[in-house]
Amino acid sequence: MHDGDRADTADMTDFDRGTGWGREEAPLSAVAHTGEREVETTLRPRTLDSFVGQPRVREQLQLVLESARKRGVPPDHVLLSGPPGLGKTSLAMIIAAELDTSIRITSGPALEKAGDLAAMLSNLAEGDVLFIDEIHRIARPAEEMLYLAMEDFRVDVVVGKGPGATSIPLEIPPFTLVGATTRSGALTGPLRDRFGFTGQMEFYTPEELEQVLKRSASILGIAIDDEGRAEIARRSRGTPRIANRLLRRVRDYAEVRADGVATLPVVRAALQVYDVDELGLDRLDRAVLDALVRSFNGGPVGVSTLAVAVGEEPTTVEEVCEPYLVRAGMLARTPRGRVATALAWEHLGLQPPPEVGRLDAATPSLFD
Ligand SMILES: Nc1ncnc2c1ncn2[C@@H]1O[C@H](COP(=O)(O)OP(=O)(O)O)[C@@H](O)[C@H]1O
Ligand SMILES: [Mg+2]
Repeated sequence: MHDGDRADTADMTDFDRGTGWGREEAPLSAVAHTGEREVETTLRPRTLDSFVGQPRVREQLQLVLESARKRGVPPDHVLLSGPPGLGKTSLAMIIAAELDTSIRITSGPALEKAGDLAAMLSNLAEGDVLFIDEIHRIARPAEEMLYLAMEDFRVDVVVGKGPGATSIPLEIPPFTLVGATTRSGALTGPLRDRFGFTGQMEFYTPEELEQVLKRSASILGIAIDDEGRAEIARRSRGTPRIANRLLRRVRDYAEVRADGVATLPVVRAALQVYDVDELGLDRLDRAVLDALVRSFNGGPVGVSTLAVAVGEEPTTVEEVCEPYLVRAGMLARTPRGRVATALAWEHLGLQPPPEVGRLDAATPSLFD
């Protein structure tokens, strides 16, 4: 699966450009590390039933798939949107598996020219799933070709150059496009409109992550008790990829420094070694909050300025750190810039100035 390889490496380049923090090794990065592909494949749920959480998306998707199956046609094109590590790629594969068809995998950055897409499309068999990861990064000419393909199962291939160029219409078998994006806002209107169904992936509750961890521990043969699982779940930023990774790091610690069983004290000690704090924030998150609070007095400050202050790329701050800081009620995105909430000040052990808002999200519990 060559295109699969490309999709996965492309998945990482966006974030690896960051300099100061080695995000690639950061234990709490929601983006897959280089060596993680294999273990992630092992841990991927294969059916909609074994897919934990996301009750809304799962039910909606079930209806879309079931109705298409009844009518004997490929289902509408599906867009999956949400932060990294929440199961978009897994769901795309599950869709193909549930439809009993094959999946072709590519990614927006790999589709630089219309010809790249034409090659993918002309290789499809009837009913196939075409998965385009990071679809918001698709190049313009390819995107325009995709409109026609999605709507009429047809592409116009331009042959030759200059005045002698002709366009040859090419039929493609009916297929289902599954697009994944971490930034649905960056999608053009016409592209978004051509999806029949959009699944908005949400962060997982600690209880759901406990279920994910239970399944993963049993697949990987890791001894961990209920309390240990709950502790990892609580610190995994609502993200299965992170939960699974912390589980493996805890396993390492348990094997080397304990008797191999991940109990609560073992989990706590292990996560301290990896710099994962009580709320599941890592060094970069804390640096972002710290800069926001100490250097900019709580904001508002633009994301680029904030990124420079912590020596990171704005996309990393925006797509990796912020979704969870917002979710945890510590940071707010306002039209004038990023603002720290009272909870952020308190998390850093500081007294928030009286005018700082608490927002409605700033409750002690992260998931209610
Ligand atoms: N709902 C889920 N149930 C169980 N495991 C999951 C679930 N969602 C994600 N995972 C795990 O997290 C990892 C990352 O998921 P992935 O589908 O690659 O996320 P995304 O494509 O959104 O970045 C996978 O290896 C999978 O094991
Ligand atoms: Mg993915």
